[in-house]
Amino acid sequence: MSTTDQPVNANKALWEKGDFTRIAAAMRESGDALIERIGVTPEMDVLDLGCGDGTTAVPSAQRGANVLGVDIASNLVAAGNARAQSLGLTNLRFQEGDASDLNELGDDSFDLVVSIFGAMFAPRPFDVAKEMVRVTRPGGRVVMGNWIANDPTFVAQLLRVSASYSPPPPEGFISPVTWGVEEHVVERFTAAGVSSEQISCDRDTYLFTFDGTPSAYLDEFRQFYGPTMNAYAAAAASGREDELHAELVELINEKNTSSSDDVTEIPAVFLRVTVSV
Ligand SMILES: C[S@@+](CC[C@H](N)C(=O)[O-])C[C@H]1O[C@@H](n2cnc3c(N)ncnc32)[C@H](O)[C@@H]1O
Repeated sequence: MSTTDQPVNANKALWEKGDFTRIAAAMRESGDALIERIGVTPEMDVLDLGCGDGTTAVPSAQRGANVLGVDIASNLVAAGNARAQSLGLTNLRFQEGDASDLNELGDDSFDLVVSIFGAMFAPRPFDVAKEMVRVTRPGGRVVMGNWIANDPTFVAQLLRVSASYSPPPPEGFISPVTWGVEEHVVERFTAAGVSSEQISCDRDTYLFTFDGTPSAYLDEFRQFYGPTMNAYAAAAASGREDELHAELVELINEKNTSSSDDVTEIPAVFLRVTVSV
């Protein structure tokens, strides 16, 4: 229990721990390109769930949609609102909320619910699917981007290695990367009242582009990305920090496709899920 006697929300604490804006800085171009592919148009009401500081919410608003970003991390909500203000985007605002329970949002409120590597990290995936469908208007869409269990590309491997050095999760924990497995996706959305014909899953790719060497980029994850920070802390406590670091150095070098010494480019495959509501 915390000092205020509220149980600690481990999901919230994980994402408030670091500073995901540092990681998101390398994702902006792919976020913009994805929003273009999804087809966000002026006047659409868009919910971006697990929005971080707006990698996809900002380009949605820049295309004229009315956008609400919801995220569990208060630091990222504040960073998103600061970005919206500095970009003069009056059609974009961010607020705190939990993808597993969107009680502050009404039924049938949005034409499009976007969640790119966001809602997949919330607990209770069946509730998450139900909530995303509930707030989407009939005729609207839910689009998720989810990292894929056992995928060989960078992020799935970073999460796998990080988890393997972290303390075991609490009983009943469902791995976020199960959202990248089609049969789980279908099971969750059909339980939310959608038929399987309304669900489609395609592989897509994000490109992470960082101005610096792979080892400088790894340092960003080590210092600012909650799951990797936790892994380094646990590895340090068990005397395995050097082993973890060596494994991640090898991983990031292997996945870097840039031919320049000063730039790191890492493609990462994800499952793009589209649900027609
Ligand atoms: C990998 S980041 C992606 C952020 C953003 N979508 C992007 O592409 O830059 C995961 C995000 O999901 C948020 N998140 C995790 N659990 C959540 C939950 N239960 N409800 C809402 N947001 C959540 C985190 O705070 C974080 O901003």
